[in-house]
Amino acid sequence: MQQKITALFQQVHGRAPAFITRAPGRIEFIGNHTDYNGGTVLGASIDRGVWVAVAPRTDGKRRFFSEYAGKVVELGADVTAKQTDEASWINYPLGVLMALPAFKLKAPEGFDYAAVSNLPTGAGLSSSAAIELASGIAFLALTDQHPNRETLVKIGKHAENNFVGVPCGILDQGVSGFGKKDHLVFIDCKGPRFDAVPLPESAHFWIFNTHTKHALVDGLYAARHRECMEAAQALGVSLLVEATPADVEAANGKLSAEAFKRAKHVVDEIARVDQAVVALKKSDLDAVGRLLTASHCSSQNLFENSTRELDFLVDKLTATLNVYGARLTGGGFGGAVMALTSPAFGDSQALTIADAYEQRFGARPDILHMKTGDGAERL
Ligand code: GLA
Repeated sequence: MQQKITALFQQVHGRAPAFITRAPGRIEFIGNHTDYNGGTVLGASIDRGVWVAVAPRTDGKRRFFSEYAGKVVELGADVTAKQTDEASWINYPLGVLMALPAFKLKAPEGFDYAAVSNLPTGAGLSSSAAIELASGIAFLALTDQHPNRETLVKIGKHAENNFVGVPCGILDQGVSGFGKKDHLVFIDCKGPRFDAVPLPESAHFWIFNTHTKHALVDGLYAARHRECMEAAQALGVSLLVEATPADVEAANGKLSAEAFKRAKHVVDEIARVDQAVVALKKSDLDAVGRLLTASHCSSQNLFENSTRELDFLVDKLTATLNVYGARLTGGGFGGAVMALTSPAFGDSQALTIADAYEQRFGARPDILHMKTGDGAERL
């Protein structure tokens, strides 16, 4: 990919790049919608991601190119408006540029820019965080500024929250920034605090991407965010992480049925993340798998962000030999299911599940056997 982006940059901009960066996509391992509630979450950075190349310009022009969009868009350094249609991918690097002053960092003026990705699209592997982090490192290289990794992660999240306009938590950017091969990233989102948890060698990840997406997915994510904040307020805490499972149980009847379900999901899910860390440290993958499947059931019944396609895959997977557990991964309302398996789970079992899915829904899910990879870096 490094060669590919170098060649592409040369072809598009007619010269060699000055800096090349890379940031990985991520799998949400466990901790569904816990991040913006101040809770804990575990994610895995994968060996696929986004590569960005840049070189400075002295005329103040910012020339953006991505292989995905296939054409150069030229903006002046004073352009701060959100881009639309086929240029809307630029909102991620643009959001990063706009975020830099909030961190007392300088944005580069003119530059040539190119991005390539080998992340499958629409699989919920967070290409947006990957492009934010890879762009952030590239822009900071252009201006010779060296903030720490945590600041870089926060810049990406700031871009997403304030410019792109998604009220996400820190999971995606945190995992892309702090990822480590053969490890999971543990995030205590309130700090935030980041830690690496070794992944037992026999733990394998499979992603089944349904390519389904609820028409209102962004609005539904924002609605869940709002419902969680309202539930916290009704419980008298600023974020749901401050309530215990017992507090939530005690408030049953006082909270609306909906607020109770959302709050119960979040506090129980935070407890599951913490139990998963303990089980991983003991290499007890059976216990980890049970927690993953319990997480899915909670998303399905309490958080109500699953779909019949995702539930179907989880049911099939958990009934299959050598699968420790399975759950929806990411925001929900469509997207992908992740399965944790032993090395004995293979293509033939995965294909049997895809066949059953096709028979039921008339389309095939994409199957990806994922590997972990390192976090964002300048190459
Ligand atoms: C999306 C968001 C994350 C997180 C997950 C749900 O991936 O970007 O911040 O909230 O959904 O856990």
